[in-house]
Amino acid sequence: MAIRHFLDLWQHEAGELREMLDEAHAMKQARAGWPKGKVDAGAPLDGHILAMIFEKSSTRTRTSFDVGIRQLGGTSIVLNANDMQLGRGESIGDTARVLSRYVDMVMIRANNHGDVEDFADSASVPVINGLTDRSHPCQIMADLLTLEESGLQLRGARLAWVGDGNNVCSSFIHAAAKFGFTLAIGTPDRYAPDDDDVELAQEMQARVELYSSAEDAVEGADVVIADTFVSMGDTDADERLEELEPFAVTEELMELAQPGAKFLHCLPAHRGEEVDTEVIDGPNSLVFDEAENRLHAQKAIMRWCLNK
Ligand code: CP
Ligand code: NVA
Repeated sequence: MAIRHFLDLWQHEAGELREMLDEAHAMKQARAGWPKGKVDAGAPLDGHILAMIFEKSSTRTRTSFDVGIRQLGGTSIVLNANDMQLGRGESIGDTARVLSRYVDMVMIRANNHGDVEDFADSASVPVINGLTDRSHPCQIMADLLTLEESGLQLRGARLAWVGDGNNVCSSFIHAAAKFGFTLAIGTPDRYAPDDDDVELAQEMQARVELYSSAEDAVEGADVVIADTFVSMGDTDADERLEELEPFAVTEELMELAQPGAKFLHCLPAHRGEEVDTEVIDGPNSLVFDEAENRLHAQKAIMRWCLNK
């Protein structure tokens, strides 16, 4: 059987992603109120080890994968890429072949998306994309779980992304076709989503609409989504902050969306920059449920990867 990597949402059948979300909902409900360190019934990943490699900083991804594998009955090893021989020039392929002899699954957060693909090509165990410059699929699985929990039916819903057409935006584009929602994206032209992702959306018949103003994108939306204006690895912070300022999510902007529209942000957030405090800390913000749901979504992803 082919190795079950989780690298990008567009590579998966819609039904497969649906099953992962269903399992995540079920696993979350089954352990409601339990201490966070208690192992799930049946310990589905008993005896399995996850290695995590980080080339960039992380709070949520690192902690939620670590707690997640423990709740599934497994264990983890966290590796900082700079402390590995990888940081001194050992090849990605050799690193993948070696780690595959020690662990059952690898989660990697990398600067370059191609490095994660190369790692997966050489690995003989499942590899999970924990964020690259191009995408962040685990985040979007958690976001969709959160929206469903809030009572939103994804099929037919209207989601608005405003700000930078970045890695998180790309994974939302990939998800639009798979889950049947409309994604309205408002960005300055310079920070529009990657052409490859837009072409992919067209090929997949996704309902993705591009706007050059935040107001046009948010009009009538059920959900408004923001992310940092300066992502890890971006080197043009001053220009970005200036050009993206009109795309900040304010209370006035939220008024253009549906009454009671939800707000999402993958975090870390910069209050007063891409989002006003009143919005992110307001009653329609789901950001901390969203952060929690990284845990539940990723447990389902890990179980899918190991077919357990
Ligand atoms: N949202 C997210 O991936 O957070 P971290 O960078 O803290 O992992
Ligand atoms: N777009 C952000 C997401 C962080 C979780 C970044 O890549 O830095």
